[in-house]
Amino acid sequence: MQITSFKQYEEDYKKSVENPEQFWGEVAQNFQWRKPWFKVLSWNFNEPNIKWFEGAKLNITENCLDRHLATSGDKPAIIWEPNNPEEESVTLTYKMLHERVCRFANVLKRNGAKKGDRICIYMPMVPELAIAVLACARIGAVHSVVFGGFSAKSIADRINDAQCKLVITADGAYRGSKQIPLKDVIDDALIGCPTVEKCIVLTHVRTPVSMLKGRDVWWEDEVKHVNDICEAEEMDAEDMLFILYTSGSTGKPKGVVHTCGGYMVYAGYTFSNVFNYQPGEVYFCTADIGWITGHSYIVYGPLSQGATSVLFEGIPTYPSPSRFWDIVEKHKVNTLYTAPTAIRSLMSYGEEPLNGKDLSSIRVLGSVGEPINEEAWHWFDEKIGHGKAPIVDTWWQTETGGIMISPIATVTKTKPSFATLPLPGIQPILVDENGKEIEGNGVMGNLCIKFPWPGMLRTTYGDHERCKQTYFSTYENLYFTGDGCLRDEDGYYRITGRVDDVLNVSGHRIGTAEVENAINMHAGVVESAVVGYPHDVKGQGIYAFVIYPEMHGDVELSKKDILQTVTRVIGAIAKPDKILFVSGLPKTRSGKIMRRILRKIAEGETTNLGDTSTLLDPAVVEEIIEASKKL
Ligand code: PRX
Repeated sequence: MQITSFKQYEEDYKKSVENPEQFWGEVAQNFQWRKPWFKVLSWNFNEPNIKWFEGAKLNITENCLDRHLATSGDKPAIIWEPNNPEEESVTLTYKMLHERVCRFANVLKRNGAKKGDRICIYMPMVPELAIAVLACARIGAVHSVVFGGFSAKSIADRINDAQCKLVITADGAYRGSKQIPLKDVIDDALIGCPTVEKCIVLTHVRTPVSMLKGRDVWWEDEVKHVNDICEAEEMDAEDMLFILYTSGSTGKPKGVVHTCGGYMVYAGYTFSNVFNYQPGEVYFCTADIGWITGHSYIVYGPLSQGATSVLFEGIPTYPSPSRFWDIVEKHKVNTLYTAPTAIRSLMSYGEEPLNGKDLSSIRVLGSVGEPINEEAWHWFDEKIGHGKAPIVDTWWQTETGGIMISPIATVTKTKPSFATLPLPGIQPILVDENGKEIEGNGVMGNLCIKFPWPGMLRTTYGDHERCKQTYFSTYENLYFTGDGCLRDEDGYYRITGRVDDVLNVSGHRIGTAEVENAINMHAGVVESAVVGYPHDVKGQGIYAFVIYPEMHGDVELSKKDILQTVTRVIGAIAKPDKILFVSGLPKTRSGKIMRRILRKIAEGETTNLGDTSTLLDPAVVEEIIEASKKL
């Protein structure tokens, strides 16, 4: 299944396009199925209705755990590195992980969970998070992991949207020098969540928490009441595996749905190939399991391939900006998969944190989540990879389930800031505004995919129409990614960023409409408009233009009030970096905010604002420009 030469890549790619069913049918043979499929693929992008490996039965945890026991039971599956480097790291072998997943699966059953139930997970990056995720999959419950940085309201919205029956959380989390009171946040969320019957709480930071009789139980107590034998639930290939909420350009986040069979095949295949993973190697992905990268490339991808994966609780700069390099040295990491924002942040500390660190184990480097600028690419290449480790710049999305356009380590010639070529099975096309294909090389356009792949989303939870509208209606018969893209003379792809109103802040996807809604909830705010602007470390920063006529206290305090509101409504990750109070917003005569103008102002490019002839009141723009200069 592993591609080892560029010639083989070309052959596999050709085959995957000419005969996709045969290609994916063969790839899928590398996994364990309880019953085979009768049809590899049936699809249409109009409804959309996509089915992979129809009729097949499986359980993804048998692929991630059971099948490795006979040959690799004593091999490390997860190496946990705690937030505090003085604490011991923990190694879980495949045997241990299997036992714990089965035991916790029994805890879930004991608390009333069954196949098809939705379970919300809000936990720190500890081994129990991976265990909780896999335990859900073991019994056929659908997990919905919510990143630890989201607020009570965001959690409640997600729990209610999916009608979750159970919540799994911890008393608290460590993040660098900070402690985050996870259970307190959950308690606030659950006030408005009538479907939740039980909440299982892991002790982690040992902070006092309220435990509600009849609802809240301790993880540690529960595991004592059950054994570690749990037969895996037989799942249909198209049964739901998980929901993961993500932001779009309008309204509230949507629950992207991934199913068991196709997702497993795609996560496993791409993990093995893109990183050229070799048995016995140590792989370290720095993402959080709360995002798709963690789902596919900390949990399901690596475990399905019997890999050894480092799971890190902390942040790159704690207790010092040497932390990643200490981890690489300590665990002899062979593959490091991280985000451009982390690279840029670490670059800013210079070379001192690298002094004396042994990074010789590194063989492959990976980047994900946002465009990587050339400077960061070269720093990563030279300082971390010592010019010897290929960088795989992996482009993909929550919706795609796995990596789509990326070099294959040791196979594809890399090029700074290019995601290079589509993986086998992926058929990208660039289109213009009208959906007309832009052919040839040396061109730019909107990136679409014209043929299904096993890891793609099937629907958005509870609202199939929204899935259709968002991804399959902009251009007929195409999946629209929302990204702009350049295809250069070599046919290499470079993702240039979102073409919709979605921001990418430190690799986190945030909708401008969501941030505006949150700001507008603040008493006294009349209206707001949010745009992104280039930010040295975060990639994009959030710039908010706010109409707030009757301020209480001084300007700075009012800004802090707004930040507090955004933190309450969405979470700290969505806090604007800049707030500018204005008396009006640039609008067209029909009342539409002209964001294009605001984007220019946020970028500091006020000399050429483009066509302003449709502006209702040009004086507003002059005022905003003047005010922005003083910010
Ligand atoms: O704009 C692209 C950007 O991140 C978006 C997807 O965000 P999310 O669903 O949160 O998933 C992030 C992790 C897969 C994309 O639409 N993006 C992701 N990877 C890259 C990227 N932009 C440029 N280069 C990448 N390698």
